[in-house]
Amino acid sequence: MKKTENLTVTVIAKQSNGAGNMLLTLAGAGTDRLPSFTPGAHIDVVIPGCGKRQYSLCSERADRQRYQICVRLDQLSTGGSRWLHQQLKVGDRLLISAPRNHFPLPDAPRTLLFAGGIGLTPLLLMAETLAERRAEFTLHLYLKRGDELAFAGRLAQLGERVVIHYSQEGDSLRRQVPAELTHPHHSVLVSCGPAGFTDHLHQLAAHYGWQAGQLHSERFSPVPTTQSVAGDRFEVEIASSGARYAIGADQSIADVLEAAGISIELSCGQGMCGACITGVLSGRPDHRDEVLSQQERAANDCIVLCCSRAHSPLLVLDL
Ligand code: FES
Repeated sequence: MKKTENLTVTVIAKQSNGAGNMLLTLAGAGTDRLPSFTPGAHIDVVIPGCGKRQYSLCSERADRQRYQICVRLDQLSTGGSRWLHQQLKVGDRLLISAPRNHFPLPDAPRTLLFAGGIGLTPLLLMAETLAERRAEFTLHLYLKRGDELAFAGRLAQLGERVVIHYSQEGDSLRRQVPAELTHPHHSVLVSCGPAGFTDHLHQLAAHYGWQAGQLHSERFSPVPTTQSVAGDRFEVEIASSGARYAIGADQSIADVLEAAGISIELSCGQGMCGACITGVLSGRPDHRDEVLSQQERAANDCIVLCCSRAHSPLLVLDL
C-alpha cells in the first residue's frame, strides 16, 4: 500500500459559518495547484498532539488554489475541533493529506440527499454537482434551530431543491416523513449526519421499500457496537514477502503489522475513513468497518486493516 503524501497548507481565512461551525480556507504553498477531488472527498488534518482528524471538503472543485473545510466544535472534543476553533490562527500552517473519497456521489435518475446538521458539508457539493448536471434531486437539511444554518448563500443558490427542516418547530425526521422518501423507485438515498440520524433514516427507508444497494451514507462516529476489534486468532500473509503474522484475539491487523515495521496508511483508526483499505488475495475477511459498500464487502477482495478481522484462518494481503 502506497502511503499518501502529506501537503503543507496555510490558513488564509477563518470564518464563523452557522452557530458552532468554523469555515477554514486553506491555500497550497506557492503557485502549485492542489490535488483535484470529487464530491464526498475528505482530507486528514494533522492536529498537534492529537493525531489526524478527517474533514469533508466543501470548496468549489474548480478552485485548485485552495481547499475549504467546515469544522463543528464538538462539545465532546478530544482536542481536534477545539484546537482548530480556539488555537489555530490565520497565517498558521497545517499538514493535511491529499483528498480521499470513499463516499462518492452515486449515479441514478433521482437522488435524495439527507443531511443532519453539519453533515451538510459533503452533500452540499453533491447537490451543486447535481444542479450543474441538471439532474433530479432534493436536498433535505435537518437542523435544530435557524441559527445553525451554515452555507446560507450557497443553499439559496440551489433554490427550491433545498428543503430545510427545524426540529424546534416540530419538523424532525421522527415526526414527519418527507413524501419523497416513500417512493424509492429509480432513486438513491445519500445521507450524512450523526449515527442516530442515519440509523433512523435507514429504518424509515427500509419501511418504504428501499433496498440496501440504494442507500449511501457517511456517519460522524462509528456504529455503537459490542463487537470490538476482538475476535478469534488468525494469520495474515504479506504477498510480496511471504511473511506471516499471527493476529491475537484482541489485536488489530494494523497494530501487528505496524509493530513488525510494515508501513500502513492509518488515519481514523476506527474503520471510518478508508485510509487503510488493502487488497485481499485469498481468505475471507470479517468486515467490521463503516466505509466499504455492500458490493465491496461482498466481493471480499479488500479489507480495512484497523478494525476488520478474518472468518478464515489465513488472509493473504496485497502488500
Ligand atoms: S484508518 Fe481509517 S479506516 Fe482504517
